Amino acid sequence: MLTVRDVSELRSRVESWRGQNQRIVFVPTMGNLHAGHLALVRHARTLGDRVIVSIFVNPTQFAPGEDYDSYPRTPQDDAQALAAEQVDLVFAPDVDSVYPDGVKAAGAYPVPPVGHGLEDEFRPGFFAGVVSVVKRLFELVQPDWAVFGQKDYQQLAVIRAMISDLGLPIELASVATVREADGLALSSRNQYLSAEERAHAPLLYRTLCELAERLRQGDVDYAALEQEAMHKLASVDFVPDYVSIRQAESLLPVTPGERNCVVLAAARLGRARLIDNVIVSDNT
Ligand code: PAF
Repeated sequence: MLTVRDVSELRSRVESWRGQNQRIVFVPTMGNLHAGHLALVRHARTLGDRVIVSIFVNPTQFAPGEDYDSYPRTPQDDAQALAAEQVDLVFAPDVDSVYPDGVKAAGAYPVPPVGHGLEDEFRPGFFAGVVSVVKRLFELVQPDWAVFGQKDYQQLAVIRAMISDLGLPIELASVATVREADGLALSSRNQYLSAEERAHAPLLYRTLCELAERLRQGDVDYAALEQEAMHKLASVDFVPDYVSIRQAESLLPVTPGERNCVVLAAARLGRARLIDNVIVSDNT
């Protein structure tokens, strides 16, 4: 497995693989890899010939006061895990290589409408940072495929819209959320939870599953369902940002009769901010 920090070395590797008609699959990450990331890598392996994983803690998607400085960085463990998955290349650039014109110049591409509201309301600037970095990484890696997790559901929708708006020749694949045995979605930020908070944390997913079940049974009082879920979370020390029932693709508010919905939530628990979602469609 190659570890590359330099943009020109990345370019020459990619060019050489492309010259041999090899299909490149790209998994962008911020490192501190867990089983959820490794599921993305395993899926990537099935889609093409070469798997490239980037590890880059992207400063532009963190607001002032968020955890950019303390975000867990574990490069050696990450390299070991990726080598075991037979990843071909790890791209671990520094900030100047990703943003040669400075981080202030980032954000020239406008966030697509699907990135307005929900996360954007509570983390203004987050998606501007995500689209800046992902667009730049796509330019550098020029993948045939890119793989993202469904846990970050709105992020996935934003990237899908960006690929479509810009006409990028990239296929997007998504992988189901990997969970602990008690249902908690894997996240690097779960390590911020105290033992007591960790014991409460699965309530987020349980609450979304219960709400999803009520939708399947035909309950259409969406506002009441969202409020009830928020109260349930608040009763065990969560501070919910939102619980929201949306159309699965557009993320617009849902109206009765909608067959494909998603229930999304974000809530703080101690130092951690957890997000999760459950899809409710004709097939689930
Ligand atoms: O989901 C993440 O880990 C990040 O938002 C991403 C897509 C790697 C961009 O920094």
